[in-house]
Amino acid sequence: MSKLRIAIAGATGYAGEELIRILQHHPFVELTQLAASAKWDRPVPLAEVFPRFAHPLDLAIESYDPQTFAQKSDIAFLVLPHGLSMDLVPILLRAGLRVIDLGGDFRLKDPSLFNQWYGRVHGHPEFLAEAVYGLSELNRESIAQARLVANPGCYATSVILAVAPLLRAGMVEPTGMIVDAKSGLTGAGRKAETSLMFAEMNENLWAYKVNHHQHQPEIQQALRPFTTAQKISLCFVPHVVPLNRGIFSTIYLRLARSCRWEDIDSVYRDFYRDTPFVRMRPAQSWPKVSDVAGTNFCDLAFTVDTDQRLVVVGAVIDNLTKGAAGQAVQNLNLMAGWSETMGLL
Ligand SMILES: NC(=O)c1ccc[n+]([C@@H]2O[C@H](COP(=O)([O-])OP(=O)(O)OC[C@H]3O[C@@H](n4cnc5c(N)ncnc54)[C@H](OP(=O)(O)O)[C@@H]3O)[C@@H](O)[C@H]2O)c1
Repeated sequence: MSKLRIAIAGATGYAGEELIRILQHHPFVELTQLAASAKWDRPVPLAEVFPRFAHPLDLAIESYDPQTFAQKSDIAFLVLPHGLSMDLVPILLRAGLRVIDLGGDFRLKDPSLFNQWYGRVHGHPEFLAEAVYGLSELNRESIAQARLVANPGCYATSVILAVAPLLRAGMVEPTGMIVDAKSGLTGAGRKAETSLMFAEMNENLWAYKVNHHQHQPEIQQALRPFTTAQKISLCFVPHVVPLNRGIFSTIYLRLARSCRWEDIDSVYRDFYRDTPFVRMRPAQSWPKVSDVAGTNFCDLAFTVDTDQRLVVVGAVIDNLTKGAAGQAVQNLNLMAGWSETMGLL
């Protein structure tokens, strides 16, 4: 079998580096093109940029060029800051490539919501309807057929996986959800910013974009098929914590009807019965971010307080793996018709 040729734009960033780490061991793909911004005006050997990839990859980082991408690859991963993919995707699709975009440009279906939450006008809204939201566990069939996959946001992945089964079962209210989420620093990207410096971050913790984070409408949109209710609402409070990688989302949900712990557990287990990457914890056992670090797993745990009609769910993922590159490879596997776990276990 000939290998699928893979190009990565944004290969020098945190999520791009994680993609290289995973794909170098994938048996059915060949990395053919690693690109970044125009500052890479001459090819620089990958081993110079990331010494850990010295073997077995003999590739260079180059500035992004759509022509080379089209000639040298079958599938392109775009791992770029928000706002850049929207102009690249049409060119790549027209050249016959399939695209997995890890940024936010094609996640929201409504261009006015994109404008509101990303603070810019979408340059190519005509591709929003076609883009398939790449939460592998929820959209397998559509992802398999897609030309363009919008890989989910990292926080959004943890929250949607935690809430969708209970919402579909009518066990929890679709309004008034409260999400308290914590992310390691790589979630902010590899960039020089005062707030990301060691002395600022070490022994520190803060909330940011409270109820203004762009994953909020993404979560609402993705949960829409799981309820007939008109309104889905949540209060979303993301935090940065002094970890390199990992997300811990604690989600407070109001029970819509009386349920025992066992009822909720069986709803989750049934929903994720055929999925390899979502793991349920037994009663009273809560996951740590270290349990999933460097893996594509999402671990879920919950507790029920029937007096207060409250379910508290904990969801942990690695933001760079299940929250970004791992899920993108899971989607690649679905698109290519391979086992969903190929290269990921
Ligand atoms: N980090 C996460 O946990 C995470 C999780 C889920 C989704 N994502 C999404 O994935 C995307 C990348 O995130 P990241 O954290 O990896 O960001 P990052 O570390 O800041 O990396 C950004 C990458 O984009 C490249 N780039 C910047 N401008 C470019 C241009 N004009 N043309 C071509 N390449 C350009 C950078 O290359 P240079 O070296 O040339 O600057 C770098 O390779 C973002 O949209 C982010 O929201 C990230």
